[in-house]
Amino acid sequence: MNNKINIAIDGPASSGKSTTAKLLANKLSYRYLDTGATYRAATYLWILNDKIDISEFQKVFEKSNIEIKFDGLKQLTFLNGIDVSLEIRNQEVTANVSFISSLGFVRTSLVNLQREFAKSKSVIVDGRDIGTVVLPDAELKIYLVASIEERAKRRHLEYQKMGQQIDFDTLKNEIANRDKLDSEREISPLRKAEDAVEIDTTGLTIGDQVNRIYKLALKKINEHN
Ligand code: DC
Repeated sequence: MNNKINIAIDGPASSGKSTTAKLLANKLSYRYLDTGATYRAATYLWILNDKIDISEFQKVFEKSNIEIKFDGLKQLTFLNGIDVSLEIRNQEVTANVSFISSLGFVRTSLVNLQREFAKSKSVIVDGRDIGTVVLPDAELKIYLVASIEERAKRRHLEYQKMGQQIDFDTLKNEIANRDKLDSEREISPLRKAEDAVEIDTTGLTIGDQVNRIYKLALKKINEHN
């Protein structure tokens, strides 16, 4: 079977993109790229540089190197040759990532890296602007949404698993704030592509969610045979 299509999955924070994309990638034997990790690495670089002025940061960023590598199916994110996959998930990075990802020079560079990854096809890419900007020609575009309560619960669980205790209301506010910043920024805001299929994951099991998209993917793959 020639299953060479690309799948774009967009949606707000904690709408289930990465869990869905990982499971779907397994089922289809596709590769999966979490683009949020690249913006998180840029944010971690800014924090490591004591949140310097943005004009100074641009110079540092341009001399730095963000890379994505794979350990089997597991995505690893490298900053200047060092594996920062764990560090980029911390609360301080999360609190600052919407700001850093709104910068034009950061987006231009990281979008190139993301497009390079998708050249080989048979990839699933998740983010905020994949269907609209990064891969506007993706054969299947999904836009995931979920209620803010549900998303805060998911994020809370994720932090618990990492051994971090974060207050539920703080998380809810942080998600609402990120939604606002991500959808109101000038460059490549979070937006549903016109040809994307919207799925509300509130109350759906992860199995249901993945199966729905899997069926849509098989249909597209058949159409491309
Ligand atoms: O998916 P995530 O929560 O790890 O993403 C972190 C942030 O990165 C998100 O708040 C906005 C930004 N982002 C973006 O601007 N464009 C993308 N394609 C992916 C993420």
